[in-house]
This record gives sequence, structure tokens and C-alpha cells, in this order.
Amino acid sequence: MNFQLKPGLLLGAASSATQIEGGVQNNNWYAWYRQGRIKDGSDPSIATDHYARWREDLELMGGMGIQCCRIGVEWSRIEPEDGVFDDAAIAHYREELQALVDRGIRPLLTLHHFSNPLWLEEKGAFAKRDNITYFLRFVRKMVESVGDLVSEYITINEPNVYAYKGYFEGAWPPGRRNLLEASRVMTNLAAAHIEAYGLIRKTRLQMGYPDTKVSFANHLRAFAPKNPADPVHRFWASRTEQLFQGSLTRAMCTGRTAFPIGRHPSIVPGQYCDFHAINYYSRSTVSALSDGTAEGCPVNGLGWEIYPQGIVEMAQKVYSLLPRPIYITENGTCDNDDRFRARYIAEHLQAICESGLPIVRYYHWCFCDNWEWLEGNSARFGLVHVDYGTQARTVKASGEFYRQVIAQGGVSEELYSRFCDVPYPTRGEGA
Ligand code: BGC
Repeated sequence: MNFQLKPGLLLGAASSATQIEGGVQNNNWYAWYRQGRIKDGSDPSIATDHYARWREDLELMGGMGIQCCRIGVEWSRIEPEDGVFDDAAIAHYREELQALVDRGIRPLLTLHHFSNPLWLEEKGAFAKRDNITYFLRFVRKMVESVGDLVSEYITINEPNVYAYKGYFEGAWPPGRRNLLEASRVMTNLAAAHIEAYGLIRKTRLQMGYPDTKVSFANHLRAFAPKNPADPVHRFWASRTEQLFQGSLTRAMCTGRTAFPIGRHPSIVPGQYCDFHAINYYSRSTVSALSDGTAEGCPVNGLGWEIYPQGIVEMAQKVYSLLPRPIYITENGTCDNDDRFRARYIAEHLQAICESGLPIVRYYHWCFCDNWEWLEGNSARFGLVHVDYGTQARTVKASGEFYRQVIAQGGVSEELYSRFCDVPYPTRGEGA
């Protein structure tokens, strides 16, 4: 392997507040942890203690040459009670964002990433249409508070995953299993995004900044029929894609609705993304209304198929829907021993750079190992290892690889053979 990064492509890292910060207990995920739902019992109010250690983490990012950084804010910390904002928390985020800007690292700010303040969860969160107004109040407050430092925003992270896991599968808070409710949640999230899109741009304009960019982080999986010659498999592959991501993508980008997205007065035809934000990890192999992984394919530590070309297939889909610059706002892999992460990065970057699509950002998930929702601390995604006993950070080999890719502006044969020339685990190998 040997390729140059596309001119203009910035390389960075992504994270979310709840997964790294620690120090808050009044959100739905801490409550879920208290109910004993986290597989390894690890506590999200500790996580990687980034809230206290952010300066050290920024120092490490600087050392790696990170060019752009997607960070989240913790709503439950900023608005611990309905309508009561914590000025010290906002000042903290201002300081962190300012430090990123001072280092020349471009911030991209996520406003909602799975976690809700308890007071909102108790009111029914996004299952209730009227609650969108709480989100908009929070969004306005944040943009008024940090809008001078941040020009790029993600309104909502992965609305399909939030709705599916929390309201259909029931494995995430609030643990509901109801297709109609999941469809309502998706509809309300689409409306929330569309309203926030306008609000963020308007608020920044009022502050004197005309150059705002807003999108939502869209979790896109590649879906393939298990047997491409079987019409039943083909039917379910396309139907699953539509239910999980296709209809929602259309509604959130262009305001056009189809099942499972219902009607809402704010969802009207229009254009609601200044860039496409794609979170891409894996491919599903489908033979019925379910999610599967093909026999013998390369997989990561959580059994997810490794399929680099999928990143381009997903980018092509959204670009055909609405031609906008593309940011890969998450891509990464669970690899607890850091054996194949560098290869994973190299192959996804190569696919991006050979694609001919206007992909201008790549945010690796994650910078440090992170608290991984249901998996807790047991699934490691970081370029930097975190010792959860001491919170000590150590740059992994893949982190050193990433530093060299950024420094050299590509992947040379030599770099590839030094860091990436390893086999992936395959399905069935106990991966
Ligand atoms: C989420 C992250 C998560 C990552 C890896 C994405 O779906 O946005 O919060 O850590 O996947 O599972």
C-alpha cells in the first residue's frame, strides 16, 4: 500500500462528553449503570476523567499532530435542572474550546450524543414532541455561549442508533421495545435537527458570524444481502436499510418523509445539512429482518465486520441525495490489544483518498480509550491507551502510526509494513 492523503483532507479525532469526561451522575446513562446494565459494571461518572485531565489530553493531541477535533458537551452538566444553567460548566467548555483553537485544532461541537439530563428523561425525552423545545433552548444557550469559538456543529449524534437501541431493541435507556414509539422518536429527532439547524445558523448570524456549518452525525452501515442471488435476502437488505437509516437520512437532509418517519410540521422539503457527517464502522449481512455478519469475514473485537469500501459506498449514497462536502465524523474499531487498528485506519483512509468524493475531514474514533456505553471499559477504541486503575495515558502503536500519517501526508510502503502488515481476526476465530 502506498497513497497520499487528498489535498484539503484534515485528520483528527472524535469523542463524546459522556464517554470520556466523568464527574456527572444526573443523566440517563448513569441511571442505567446504577440499574446494573453495563456489561463490565464500569461507572460512566468516572470514564477517563477527561473533565479534569483535558489539558493533558490536548497536549497529547498536539503531539500527534491532530488537525481537527470533534468534542461533545454534557447537557446534564450544563443544565442540571430544567431551565437552570451552570455558568462554571459553560466556562469550562469555553476554556477547552479556546485551548483547541489556540493550538490550531479546529473544533466541531456535538450538542447531543445519546445522553439526556435526568429531568428530561423523566419528561419522556424525545418520545414527546413538546420536549423538542427543551433541546432548542439548550442549543441556543450553547451557541450564544461558545458561538464565537465554534463555527461547525453537530446537532444530534446517530438518531437512528438512539431510537433503535432505546426504543426498539430496548438494550439502552429507557429500555422500551415498541416500533411505533421508535418511529415517533426518529420523527421527533428529525424535527429537532431541522429546527436546531435553522436556530444555530440564525443565532451565529445575530452574533455577526455568517459562516456557520451544521449537520447531524449519521450512523450509516453498509447492508448486503447474505446471498445476492436470493430475492428474499435482497428484499430484506434494502428494507432494513430503509428502516434503520435510509428514510431518516432523507428526512434529516431534505425534509422528505417515508416510513418510519412520520409527519411533523417542521419536517418540510428543504436542505438541512451544510455537510454530510458520516459515522461509519461496519457492514451487516442480511437474510431477514435482522442484523448479521458473514462467515469468515474479517471482524473486530466486538465481532463487527471490517469492510473499508463501505465508507465510500455510504459517502456516495448521501452525496447523491444532496451534494455537500463530506466529513467522516467517526470511524474506528474495537481492538483491545491494538493489533490491527493501524491497518484498519490505513485501509479506510485509502478508500477515502481513492474515492473521488469530496471527503474533507476524517475524525478517528476515539482519541483515548473511552467508556463504551453497554460495553463499559471493556471495549477499547483509542489511539491512546488508558489504564483505568491510574488513568495513565500511553500512546499506542496505532497512535504513533496516525502521527506519522499526518506528518507524512500519506501512507508509504515502509509505514504500512512497519505498522499494518498484520492479519485481521476472522469470524469464528473467537474474535
Ligand atoms: C457512537 C459512539 C460509540 C462508537 C463505537 C458510535 O455509534 O457514536 O458513541 O462509542 O459508535 O461503538
